[in-house]
Amino acid sequence: MLKIVRKFILKCEIDQTAFVKKQEYRSLGELVTMLFAVIFGMGLSELGELKSAYDFTVLILGYLTIILSWWGYNWGIISHPETNLLNYFIDVLLMAVYWWLIYLRDPLWMVLLGYIIMFGLYWIWEAVRLCNEDVLGASKKLVVQSANRLNRLFFLLSVVLLVLNLDLLRVHFGAGFYVIVLFLLIVSYRGFIYRIYHPKGTAEVHPKPANDLENTLANKARDAARNARVHLSNFRVGAAIAAESGKIYTGCNIEFDNYSNTIHAEESAISAFVTAGEKRATAIAVYTFGDDIAFPCGMCRQSLFELGGNKMKVLACNLHNCEMRTMGELLPEGFKL
Ligand code: THU
Ligand code: ZN
Repeated sequence: MLKIVRKFILKCEIDQTAFVKKQEYRSLGELVTMLFAVIFGMGLSELGELKSAYDFTVLILGYLTIILSWWGYNWGIISHPETNLLNYFIDVLLMAVYWWLIYLRDPLWMVLLGYIIMFGLYWIWEAVRLCNEDVLGASKKLVVQSANRLNRLFFLLSVVLLVLNLDLLRVHFGAGFYVIVLFLLIVSYRGFIYRIYHPKGTAEVHPKPANDLENTLANKARDAARNARVHLSNFRVGAAIAAESGKIYTGCNIEFDNYSNTIHAEESAISAFVTAGEKRATAIAVYTFGDDIAFPCGMCRQSLFELGGNKMKVLACNLHNCEMRTMGELLPEGFKL
């Protein structure tokens, strides 16, 4: 699946990173949100026609399923905003499916078909996004594999539900059964997806740096980079400084609309380090999301030199590579008062 999508993207020569800039995408996201609110509001007007409390509960649970699904999905986009035009088209298709799900509550097999298409679209959306190199900064192969497996599983589960409903197996369940199962499916799907995108200490920096401290630093820098505020450059940087005390302090780059207030990842790590009362640093790792590794800029080199001296180790890592220099190599003859 992923291969087909990748081929398609390459064939269309879609610039995967620059096509829709994050800021433009945000307003598209808002548009989608508004459309959804309108559709949902229209759907609610049907509430007045319901007869029994059971109908009412099933309908509310049904709406809740759709809202949770949509909300969890949007939340995923916001925490990983890198995207491209294909993803936007899929968003629009998803909107149509949500509309379908809200309006076509009858017959049930049509609704289930809607869920199959929805999970199918999630699957494609994820695959398209994961084709973008290095969006996660974690072990990409692992993430791609697990997301792909999970999406396939949920797609198949929704197919099973449809088959059950088609009565091929001669089993009879009421609408309530399907709504409850779909509700559980959506909630667990979102939980699993969240765990894939926010792996806890499982994804490692490759190749693994030589010793434990360096490895920990590189991984902590990568985790910090995830929080970077990079709406201007889209260039995520994370830094992790090891103090003589053995503690580690992290930071990420933080950009502001006037450009010049931007804080480098190293600066924000340094400020945590000093604020905690630390005096001497032994090593720093800088992690970047992107094709190239990056050692600290000239300004940061001076600050780091003052805190760690010539012998301080400086690691520059990305998903594919991790290199080390000493501060003395990066800044010979550093300035001292
Ligand atoms: N950046 C850092 O975080 N550290 C450096 O040493 C160089 C640059 C950030 C700042 C800005 O958010 C982005 O990279 C592009 O310049
Ligand atoms: Zn810097």
